[in-house]
Amino acid sequence: MTTASLVDRSTAVAARATELSKIYGQGETRVVALDQVSVEFRQAEFTAIMGPSGSGKSTLMHCVAGLDTFTSGSVRIGETELASLKDRQLTRLRRDKIGFIFQAFNLLPTLTALENITLPMDIAGRKPDQRWLETVIDMVGLSGRLGHRPAQLSGGQQQRVAVARALASRPEIVFGDEPTGNLDSRSGAEVLGFLRNSVRELGQTVVMVTHDPVAAAYADRVVFLADGRIVDELYGPTADKVLDRMKRFDAKGRTS
Ligand SMILES: Nc1ncnc2c1ncn2[C@@H]1O[C@H](COP(=O)(O)OP(=O)(O)OP(=O)(O)O)[C@@H](O)[C@H]1O
Ligand SMILES: [Mg+2]
Repeated sequence: MTTASLVDRSTAVAARATELSKIYGQGETRVVALDQVSVEFRQAEFTAIMGPSGSGKSTLMHCVAGLDTFTSGSVRIGETELASLKDRQLTRLRRDKIGFIFQAFNLLPTLTALENITLPMDIAGRKPDQRWLETVIDMVGLSGRLGHRPAQLSGGQQQRVAVARALASRPEIVFGDEPTGNLDSRSGAEVLGFLRNSVRELGQTVVMVTHDPVAAAYADRVVFLADGRIVDELYGPTADKVLDRMKRFDAKGRTS
């Protein structure tokens, strides 16, 4: 087994899925994308989710982040049960408690870096906490670029804007689906460093889907999915250990 049972469990849980299942389609087209997955994401912990293509990584992330519905089971963000929320409450929870970083940076081209960073809060009619905002902008090294538009920024800088945008409202938890998938290795390393710093220095909770063992090594733990199930968990990952584990998935994505 892994060292999971040795880790201090008293820490608060930022998000939790319990026996979470997601089934697409019916009959011949039926796909069990998630099969009774139970997983916790503790506060101030950086988790990477890995597994073969089609194993359910994005589905898990979307269901836990309230972006997608699920078939059965439950999801909690902090103390809030997602299934108990009405649409508008869910929208508000996503906006206030969850940060997202996508593979495509999803910045608005007509807005400056700073305007992009504060956009979700502007839409919500909320004033950013200036000190926090400055801390985040400093951390991602964008102080000199705040007036630039996305087209005037490198890919790595654009993704740093997206990271700052996700952190700006000080969400309960930040989710990224291959946040470095479109970056060269140096820019990717920078963004991963900032994510790790946000966990270490700011106490953020981060959950990141990745295919890259080097990216996963920035996390505190790696959760491995196969066929919609959690098949393993690794604490203190190194790229070598992650690669070793990944080699044990066969060509069909099953675990051996
Ligand atoms: N809208 C949908 N309708 C039907 N099946 C779907 C839908 N979305 C995903 N699936 C199926 O659910 C399973 C899990 O998909 P998911 O996108 O979570 O995989 P993933 O692990 O993120 O893969 P990748 O690494 O390729 O992004 C796959 O078999 C996929 O074909
Ligand atoms: Mg995916």
